[in-house]
Amino acid sequence: MPEQLKDVMTKALTNGSRTEELPFLHNKINGLILPAFVTEQRLRACSTFPTRPGDVFLVTYPKSGTIWLSEIVNCITQQNDTETVDGKKGFLGGITDPLFEVLSQKELDSLVSPRYMATHLSWDLMPHSRENSLKYIYIARNPKDVSVSYFYFMKSLPLCNFQGTWDKFLECFMKGDVPYGSYFDHVLEWWGHKDDENVLFLKYEDLKKDLSSQVKIIAEFIGFQLSDEEAKDVAQKCTFQAMKSNNNMRFFVNKFIKKGSHLRKGIVGDWKNHFSDEQLEQFQKLYESRMNGSGLDFEFQM
Ligand code: A3P
Repeated sequence: MPEQLKDVMTKALTNGSRTEELPFLHNKINGLILPAFVTEQRLRACSTFPTRPGDVFLVTYPKSGTIWLSEIVNCITQQNDTETVDGKKGFLGGITDPLFEVLSQKELDSLVSPRYMATHLSWDLMPHSRENSLKYIYIARNPKDVSVSYFYFMKSLPLCNFQGTWDKFLECFMKGDVPYGSYFDHVLEWWGHKDDENVLFLKYEDLKKDLSSQVKIIAEFIGFQLSDEEAKDVAQKCTFQAMKSNNNMRFFVNKFIKKGSHLRKGIVGDWKNHFSDEQLEQFQKLYESRMNGSGLDFEFQM
């Protein structure tokens, strides 16, 4: 891990806020709750980040399949080796790599093009460019499974260290009081750009259903023509089981991220094991009030 990043992470552990309402380490910047390791200075620099032609952003709301998408792109572009952040490759967003909004300008500059950069930022906080043909791949996942996945992740991640129950977490999630803010704001903002020619909007559940065909779509979007066989091969390398048992994965096994915390169950419908009837009813109301009329819907079980 680069020294500068270690520094950011260490500072986050000591400087992050925690309150009774928000019982996890965080940073509040202009009203938006963020992980403690995203600094105000860095966030401000994101929207004016000097992009290059060919930059590709891999965008998700947390727990929607970030490392899955990263690994797929990694396999398609065959940049899957040990050199990343230190500039030998353009890849940023593999299983161990920090997010776009976390690294410094210098570290991002040192990546070679084409750069693939994973991020959880909303559309309005991202860089956009008329001159450079930037691309954005967005993966959305049904919010019930996202909330469950987020709960476990925030409990297991020392950099969040959520100290509370599932009930408390769900309350925070429904209010948008979690890092990166409201799920609904995030997904709907990106959904509003789904028809832009430089945006590819995908769903986690579709990847679960037919990974090979989604791999082909992703490949084509970033300029790679894969045969059916090649797409199948990438899909095989990117199943949950394959990723979980891949010992070559460059896990961040250190005090910041525990091994396995990104790859928990990888299924559609785990929410059924967590939501009470009352929670389900409240969630459904919220879901309908935010999503009805948007044209965006999800499969909640398979
Ligand atoms: P669960 O906690 O429900 O298991 P992110 O990378 O955005 O943090 O998302 C993590 C979620 O994506 C975890 O969900 C993880 O298991 C799931 N995931 C990662 N790789 C996957 C894969 N190959 N297939 C299915 N789900 C995957």
